[in-house]
Amino acid sequence: MDSRFNKTLLLTVSLSCLLLSCNATRVLTIPPIGAPAQSKATASALVGSLFSVASATNKINPVITGFCSGTESPALCAKTLAPLLLQGAFDPLKALETEIEATMKQAQTVTGIILKKLADHNTPKAALDALHICKDQYSDILDTIKEALELIPQHNVVDAYYKFSSVISNKCTCDDAFTESPGVENPLVNESLTLFQLGGNCLAIMDALVNHSRL
Ligand SMILES: *[C@@H]1O[C@H](CO)[C@@H](O)[C@H](O)[C@H]1NC(C)=O
Ligand SMILES: *[C@@H]1O[C@H](CO)[C@@H](O)[C@H](O)[C@H]1NC(C)=O
Repeated sequence: MDSRFNKTLLLTVSLSCLLLSCNATRVLTIPPIGAPAQSKATASALVGSLFSVASATNKINPVITGFCSGTESPALCAKTLAPLLLQGAFDPLKALETEIEATMKQAQTVTGIILKKLADHNTPKAALDALHICKDQYSDILDTIKEALELIPQHNVVDAYYKFSSVISNKCTCDDAFTESPGVENPLVNESLTLFQLGGNCLAIMDALVNHSRL
């Protein structure tokens, strides 16, 4: 990784923060290939608390810390990328792949909770609709992540980025299903937040990679 890449990552911080809201604008100006037309940027109160955990990454290799500093959840990013250090020279594409794989694993975890809740006779009837919606959303998320992963070896980060944006909106659709079910507690709330953070990290890394390649 060279210093230009580092700078690009730092530049993305203020922009990619916006991604942490379900209504966020995709702040990319790369040529649209079926780019989603989104509007209404809303900053998330979450951002502050996420950055406050950045110091926890200090124990990790400075290359990884630097790489992750441009993401929305630097500590989580550094934690998921730490195993890469055992594999020789740091490769940003490999790092992206690793973060995407971590997101996939988390999506599988959330899917597991959904299936368990659906099979559980103690699950309140009022929660079933939302759970079914979430099951569909997470099935889409898993498909999307698989497709995005296949684009990385082809160095097609631009298409992977646009594909991946839908992971965040699928996650938000699932959240909404619970918000719109009065009296029903969202059993996915913690695990899906982690998915959101990992997904946001992937988007921030892809954003940086795309702009780096045009420098
Ligand atoms: C990417 O590059 C474009 C064109 O130079 C620029 O407008 C945009 O702000 C950059 N995005 C980021 C995240 O740096
Ligand atoms: C989410 O985490 C909070 C705080 O750790 C905990 O109190 C709560 O029970 C968790 N909720 C679920 C649904 O796991």
